[in-house]
Order: sequence, then C-alpha cells, then structure tokens
Amino acid sequence: MSNSKDANRVIIFDTTLRDGEQSPGASMNLDEKLRIAQVLEEMGVDVIEAGFPIASDGDFEAVHEIAKTASAAVVCGLARATRMDIERCAEAVRPARRGRIHTFIATSPVHMKYKLQMEPDAVHEQVIESVSYARRFTDDVEWSCEDGSRSDHDFLCRCVESAIDAGATTINVPDTVGYAVPDEFTALIKMLFERVPNIDKAVLSVHCHNDLGLAVANSLAAVHAGARQVECTINGLGERAGNAAMEEIVMALRTRNDHMPYTTAIRTENIMRASRLVSTVTGFTVQPNKAIVGANAFAHEAGIHQDGMLKHAGTYEIMTPESVGLTASKLVLGKHSGSHAFREKLKELGYDLGDNAARDVFKRFKDLADKKKEIFDEDIVALVDDEVVRANDRVRLISLEILCGTKHRPPKAELELEIDGEIKHCRATGDGPVDAAFNGIKALFPHEARLQLYQVHAVTQGTDAQAEVTVRLEEKGKTVIGQGADTDTMVASVKAYVNALNKLLVKRKKSAPAALSA
Ligand code: KIV
Ligand code: ZN
Repeated sequence: MSNSKDANRVIIFDTTLRDGEQSPGASMNLDEKLRIAQVLEEMGVDVIEAGFPIASDGDFEAVHEIAKTASAAVVCGLARATRMDIERCAEAVRPARRGRIHTFIATSPVHMKYKLQMEPDAVHEQVIESVSYARRFTDDVEWSCEDGSRSDHDFLCRCVESAIDAGATTINVPDTVGYAVPDEFTALIKMLFERVPNIDKAVLSVHCHNDLGLAVANSLAAVHAGARQVECTINGLGERAGNAAMEEIVMALRTRNDHMPYTTAIRTENIMRASRLVSTVTGFTVQPNKAIVGANAFAHEAGIHQDGMLKHAGTYEIMTPESVGLTASKLVLGKHSGSHAFREKLKELGYDLGDNAARDVFKRFKDLADKKKEIFDEDIVALVDDEVVRANDRVRLISLEILCGTKHRPPKAELELEIDGEIKHCRATGDGPVDAAFNGIKALFPHEARLQLYQVHAVTQGTDAQAEVTVRLEEKGKTVIGQGADTDTMVASVKAYVNALNKLLVKRKKSAPAALSA
C-alpha cells in the first residue's frame, strides 16, 4: 500500500479465501489457498482475508501459512466479537509481516434481537471490548457492523465512533444481505462522514453482497461517497449470490477513470489468471456472459459488430482483452518440445512451479501432446491447475477402461483407484458409461454422497479439445464441487468425481462451531 496516502487510492481487500470459501460447495484445501494467495499478491491485492481461524483447524492453518508466506499484502483473519475468536485469529496472523484482525458484530435490530438476542447497549459494550482486546495483539484492527446497511443510523454512528476510539483503524460497513441500492448506500456512507466526529482516524470500507445484483454498483457508489477500501472476491464468489466482483470494480475504476478518478494497485493483466485459478479450484465455472472474465466478454459475433471492430476496435470495445490478461489463443509447444522451452512457457503464463511440480506437469504435457495435435495456452493452464487441484488427494485415478456403444449393453467400466496408497480394482456396469464409471468409484470407495450436477465443457475448440468436467456431490447437506480435464471425456469425468470425493473428505474433517455466521 505504498501510495495509500493518495486521497483517491482505493484499497483492495480480497475475501475470496474467506467469504468466497463460505459459498456452498466452494471449499478449498491448504495448497489451493496458498496458490490463490500467491496469485492475489502478484496481482497487487492490498489485503488478503485468508480465513476465519476459529471456524476450523483447516481455516486456522490456511491463515497461518499465508501469514508466513505473504511478502507485501496485509494478511487478515476474521473473528467474532469474543476473546476466544480474537485470540485464535491473533495467533493465526502472528507470523505476518503485516497482520490484521477483523472483528465483527451485528448492529441491525433484526440481527440483535433474533440472532444475538442482545440489547443494543450490550452490543455497544461488546464493540468496545472486542476492538480494545484485538488491539492488544496488533495495531491493525478492522471492525465490521454486520448488517450495517439495515442498522439504525444513530446506533450505527455510536458504535462506529466507539470502535474508532477503542482503536479500530478500518471501519467496514457491510451490506450483508445485499439489500441496499446505490443512492441509499451513498447516503449511508456520507451520513457516517458527516456524523461520526472521529471518522477521519479510520479508513472507511464497504463489503457488499450481490443478492439484488447490485454489489458492484453499491461498492462504487460508496467509493464516490468517500469509502477507500472495497471488500470483494474474484469472480464475485461468496455466500448466496456472492460478493462484489473484484475484476468488475477494478476494471470499472480503470475504464471510467474520467468519471471515477480513483486508483487501485491491481495489475489488471493478472485478472484472467486469477479468475481461471479460482474457477478451477472451486469448480464454480464462470458464466460465458459474465463481465470482464466470461468467455464471451470480448467476443464479437454479430456481423455489424465484427465490421465495426475491423474498422476500429473502439467501436465496440471499451477495454482491451490484453488489459485483463487475455491474449489471442497462441499455439504453443508441440510433442518435440523440451523441458527448457516448457519451463519458459510456464514462466510466460505466470507460473512459478517448484522442480517436482514442473516435472510432473511436463510429463502430462507430453502425454497430452501425443493425443492432441495443437496445444494452446489454455491447455497448459488447464494442466497446471489440474495438477494443483490434485496435489494432496487421498483417492487417485490409476486407470480406466470403458466398454460402451450400441453393441455393448449394459456399458461396463473397469477401474483402478489408489486409495490411501493402496491400489484397488473393480468392474462395474451402469445405465450409461458415466454411470458405470461412477458406480465403480462407489464400489471401491463406498460413500453416501449424492450426485447433484454433472457438466462438461471444452477447454478449447476442435474435436480433440480437452474436456473439462464439473461434478457436484452432496452429503448431509454439505456440497462439494470437483473438476477434471482430459482429452477423454470419460477420464475427465472420473477425475472430476474423484476430485469432489477428495474435497468431501477434507470437508468431513472440518467441524464448524455452532452459530458461525459471517
Ligand atoms: O457479509 C458480512 O457482513 C460479512 C462480515 C463478517 C464482514 O461477511
Ligand atoms: Zn460477507
């Protein structure tokens, strides 16, 4: 945050690893979180909210490890307004060069009465107590008034003033349920600037959810009113309809700087890479028409548009694909390429893999080059992300053979899996080849999870393109999403199912304490 003293500089606070991970099905393991944190740092994110340390040992470990490795970004952990939460959070961020404790309590009448079952005065006391306590561990303390946009203004001003007096350096106003509309949210932020006497002693932040599709609009409205920190996530991941999408906020500020003269430190050329990684790790595919990062965001199909584009790109393009890191699909190395050229390609794509990982990905690249004539950047990205996703799996696919088609009824699958280091083998049948293969997995690794979604899409064009399969499993109300890529759709399907199963095993270990709501 070198130039954050600049009055128009907006601090980008990314909560993909905390609020984003709270989306049903979007759980991530430690390696995946470390990888995402590294990409966020490289893209210039100011604050990384790495998790909710009290929520589980996994969350604690992720915050702790990211705190050890982050070199420039502030590493933040979330804590409710209790001593236990704050202590756990303080311990998790302790190794950080710059660590932040983010503590919160709800301030709206409906949350105080029904969720907290506390009187406003008691909530106010707890604001002072929690912020003062957090300040014992670090001088970077953020306080959030959960459901701030539905809170009584007098009470909100009283709590904000006390939080700042108690030592909060950032005051965050969440639109927790995505209820606000832009002019109302502008007025709320302005009201805080006008009525809270010590407001100049803290950075004002906003955190908007997207239930009405207004998260980005509300965030920008707040910046216009004086907020200088925006909390957001890659691809708009987050609880329910998600959080404000970072790529949309950053590109709106950059593209319409004439109208919104604010800056961020984000290197926007890294946006696509971050988007793809988050999508691969969580299994949440990005809708094709999603602003900035959707597959169609820069595609021009209508003849009249194409004609305009050929004459002058400015006719239909308000920002260049390159500015978000989209380069024209480049043909890359072929099957005769050596490991040196491949390592150079990885660097060009922004990957910094250790020797072992680079060797494994190179081997997979060679296998792919044997099967597929043309290899594009997107194929390499899919391979690397696939490798990361699978790094710590307890269950792995060893081999798969399928017999299907009009002459082979019912379809048969012969499957070998490695489960906790032991190779197991089985034969299974099913209604179709996918069903047969999934029945085989169930026979080798019995589980109760139900398949909720099975989806296939192609990574690039052409019949020899890699298939990317997404699978969603549900067990006792918990959902996980798995992904797999391969030129063979059936192999990709089994990889995706096995990936989801591995995530379920991680999820089973997590034991969230009661009433964890954020
Ligand atoms: O949505 C919300 O209110 C939150 C807070 C914990 C910041 O996520
Ligand atoms: Zn939130």
